[in-house]
Amino acid sequence: MAYETIITERRGKVGLITLNRPQALNALNSQILAELVAAVNGFGADAGIGAMVITGSEKAFAAGADIKEMQAISYVDAYLQDFFVGWEEFTRARKPIIAAVAGYALGGGCELAMMCDFIIAADTAKFGQPEITLGVIPGMGGSQRLTRFVGKSKAMDMCLTGRMMDAAEAERSGLVSRVVPAGELVEEALKAAARIADFSLPSVMMAKEAVNRAFETTLAEGLRFERRLFHSLFALEDQKEGMAAFAEKRKPNFSNR
Ligand code: HXC
Repeated sequence: MAYETIITERRGKVGLITLNRPQALNALNSQILAELVAAVNGFGADAGIGAMVITGSEKAFAAGADIKEMQAISYVDAYLQDFFVGWEEFTRARKPIIAAVAGYALGGGCELAMMCDFIIAADTAKFGQPEITLGVIPGMGGSQRLTRFVGKSKAMDMCLTGRMMDAAEAERSGLVSRVVPAGELVEEALKAAARIADFSLPSVMMAKEAVNRAFETTLAEGLRFERRLFHSLFALEDQKEGMAAFAEKRKPNFSNR
């Protein structure tokens, strides 16, 4: 499929998606949402792909939802269209997605990064939820996901003042998993994704499900869920292969079976 606002590439077993609306700092309009969801679903259905990376430009991962597209929307239209509901489909992706963030990740851009499974940031990254400066609040999960990432005090600070957080603060507060030099961002994210894609896909997908469950349920239920998944992995040839390879001091050769 030909896309206009994103670029998709296969890098071995990794699907790389680059947001590409440079004239609007990758502001997220309905077209980019539709293309992103189509690309993620496409890589999701592709048996040769084990993980994905989403990145933007050096200047901006994404500077938010598209303010110019949003500004004239009425309440009733926002309600009737369930404005932003399309992003729920993005979060249903079952294969891991890494956000590789350089420059601005603001508003919906920060929220998109948080919808991915983890964030690798360039030292130039700047995160923020500036919606309050526009007379609104985060609408793609910022008030909920940011609070789970960084806790109440910092989430309140970000959502109420609209200030930006640099990469060092984002790493310190648990929003991003690692910070790398800007010039190495995509390469480092692709390396992490390739490492994931070399593991057994069903176990990778279950690991993602298990960690995500921690945000949806109690500790007791989450532990039970984890144990059930863990038990089920003993039905895989890849569990036998992985453990045999360890015992035989060789590299495992996973078949995703
Ligand atoms: C539409 C945007 C945009 C956005 C930037 N642009 N952000 N267009 N929506 N979110 C456009 C600008 O209008 C401009 O277009 C071009 O991109 C370059 O931006 P500049 O502002 O000229 O660049 P710069 O001076 O370097 O400033 C960068 C910036 C600033 C600090 C990131 O662009 C900015 O503050 N952007 C808005 C950030 C924001 O508020 N995001 C949250 C959006 S609301 P032209 O045509 O003039 O060259 C949101 C969720 C809403 O995400 C949920 C509520 C329901």
